[in-house]
Amino acid sequence: MVELSSLKGMYDRYPEERAAYRAVIDVVEETAREFGFREIDVPGVERTELYRVKSGDELVEQTYSFEDRGGREVTLVPEQTPTRARLVQQRKDLKTPIKWFDTSKRWRYEQVQKGRDREFFQTDIDVFGVESVEADAEVVACAARIFEKLGVDDQVRFLINDRDLLEALLETVDVVGEDAEAAMRVIDDREKLSCEEFLGRLREQGLSTADARDVEELTAVSGPIAETVDDLAERAPDDERVERAVERMTDLAAALETYGVADVCRLDLSIVRGLAYYTGLVFEAFDAGGELRALFGGGRYDDLVGLFGEQEVPAVGFAFGYSPTAKLLQQAGEWPAEALSTDVYVLPVSDSVRETALSFAADLRETGLVVETDLTGRSVGGQFGYADGIGARRVIVVGENDLADDVVTVRDMDTGEEDLVPVDDVVGKLVADLG
Ligand code: HAM
Repeated sequence: MVELSSLKGMYDRYPEERAAYRAVIDVVEETAREFGFREIDVPGVERTELYRVKSGDELVEQTYSFEDRGGREVTLVPEQTPTRARLVQQRKDLKTPIKWFDTSKRWRYEQVQKGRDREFFQTDIDVFGVESVEADAEVVACAARIFEKLGVDDQVRFLINDRDLLEALLETVDVVGEDAEAAMRVIDDREKLSCEEFLGRLREQGLSTADARDVEELTAVSGPIAETVDDLAERAPDDERVERAVERMTDLAAALETYGVADVCRLDLSIVRGLAYYTGLVFEAFDAGGELRALFGGGRYDDLVGLFGEQEVPAVGFAFGYSPTAKLLQQAGEWPAEALSTDVYVLPVSDSVRETALSFAADLRETGLVVETDLTGRSVGGQFGYADGIGARRVIVVGENDLADDVVTVRDMDTGEEDLVPVDDVVGKLVADLG
């Protein structure tokens, strides 16, 4: 016997559940299109070396990697950013800004838990070729618009940081070099740790108790971007690197203000992100209740394209994750109905009218409506039951007697009301009602 269940962390989504996911994906993609992002399509399997370059050890350890039948080391795509960098490097003729989106599956051999699956969808949205904060603000604005359209913008917080700013600030408290790298790795886990555990982990990494306390204090900083960055600038000693990072963050705050999304964003010095290729800005979205894993994550990765060839192209973007977002939408009552929907079911009462029924179905489909008709020779009652099960909004009952009078019966499945409609008017009437 074949084991019927799917592998752990992978999901069988039947049409009802898939319809709900599809509705959410449509909102995300439609928003990306509105901002001028263009859809791409890329492989789901890549050479393993693509990830060794810069994704970070944690990610490489979590890949589904194997040797293909030609003896090549290959990996199921765990994230799309390295693939995109490869595509940009490969083509020197692309006009900037290059703005891409795509929704597809990713695979990571993770510890399966709430919001962490082994096979999952991401929609990646990136801008290549723009160094300024305008691109940073545009991707954040696009993400904010997605949550607005999903009806949960008031329940989402965007936490923004700049690794340069954090590194420069760590330097001002004498946490530098390997200590700074070690500290950044621990900071990435800060939200999962108590204060004591956090300090303990920093000390384990070789930081002195005083340094650990400084890091703890610094990474507790979180607040509205413009004010928080002003505070930091005042507190920090004169330092060229801090000044540069502060200036960029101040510019970003102004750009976010212009896009009207500054209110959902906070500067939070504990956001570091695990992926090794980020060069400055990093950001993540969380539910306001703080219960769920990150809803999406992204940042600026100005060096990654350059690692794959001679062309240097700055980049910024994020990947939208569906598992935590689905939980948030469910809690907020904004998760789309997990139900089938059909515009019209055409019900032939007997075999003799099957051809006429098919011709109604064909005419209605031509108008773009979703139409089903009988494939099984069921009874009238059986067909009404089926029509109900597929969420049909109208049923056209095609019977010999009605046809003799050049009419059909149209039933509104919500109200149960029935109308006799002239055969020649039925398509026009249904399009007007349902279109
Ligand atoms: P990431 O933080 O690894 O970044 O993933 C982004 C989002 O995908 C997460 O916030 C989460 O919602 C979702 N996600 C990640 N892993 C899983 C999982 N195992 N199960 C379910 N959902 C998951 C990246 O992937 C970067 N490539 C994003 C990026 C694009 N940076 C720049 N451009």
